[in-house]
Amino acid sequence: MWFYPKIVAHRGGGTLAPENTLAAMRCGLQHGFHAVEFDVMLSADRIPVLMHDPQFGRTVRGAGNVADTTAASLAAMDAGAWHGPSFAGEPVPRYEDVVAFCKENRIWMNVEIKPAPLHEVETGQVVGELTRQLFQKEAQSHIRGTNDVSLPLFSSFSFEALMAAKEAAPEIPRGFLLDKLAPGWLDKAQALDVVAIHTNHKNLSPDQVAMVKEHGYGLFCYTVNTPERAREILGWGVDAFCTDRIDLIGPEFG
Ligand code: G3P
Ligand code: MG
Repeated sequence: MWFYPKIVAHRGGGTLAPENTLAAMRCGLQHGFHAVEFDVMLSADRIPVLMHDPQFGRTVRGAGNVADTTAASLAAMDAGAWHGPSFAGEPVPRYEDVVAFCKENRIWMNVEIKPAPLHEVETGQVVGELTRQLFQKEAQSHIRGTNDVSLPLFSSFSFEALMAAKEAAPEIPRGFLLDKLAPGWLDKAQALDVVAIHTNHKNLSPDQVAMVKEHGYGLFCYTVNTPERAREILGWGVDAFCTDRIDLIGPEFG
């Protein structure tokens, strides 16, 4: 079962804003989205920040690793100029600040735990512990299996990271991210005690949708960027998806 929003803005504002920044969160909100997906990685001083790539070069200019850079240094880096001059100076945000923004604006969060290589367990643990602190109040009144969207949903391609998050913050629901539903997915999903399977729509078949639903899981797809494809997979029974094209696929789509 899926109790969360159906259409989710990918990395904040999809292609309309620099991914994983507060400007992206504002952009998604301006387009009416109250549901967002973003990626969280650890800085060198173990502060969760929003970042997709473990190395600089694409969204942040230069060379080097996020895992070797402090959060203070990351906050001084430009994560917006690559997208366009109007976003120049947009910093790499701390996860905690993005959570505050989302709470203030009633935005539901799919927090993708994106560990840098070799930092899987540490990332899951630290993100789990911080999320537990930040959502202490919401967790007290949350009842699993209801449409209460006051808690975020963790997801990760890393089994180890998600397991560490489960141990640190068992009350925060989890979704298992898989590029495709390879053999063994169910055992892992059960071990992680997830509420949903998150997968690449490009590798999905209607039979697989039925199989996931038979096991009682919610099914979320990434990243669906045309209304035609969105209609098709929703027709198969997919519950929700994230999109980069928040200009073409609105929050009320479908
Ligand atoms: O969480 C869904 C999607 O974001 C997974 O892929 O690489 O865009 O983080 P990626
Ligand atoms: Mg992601």
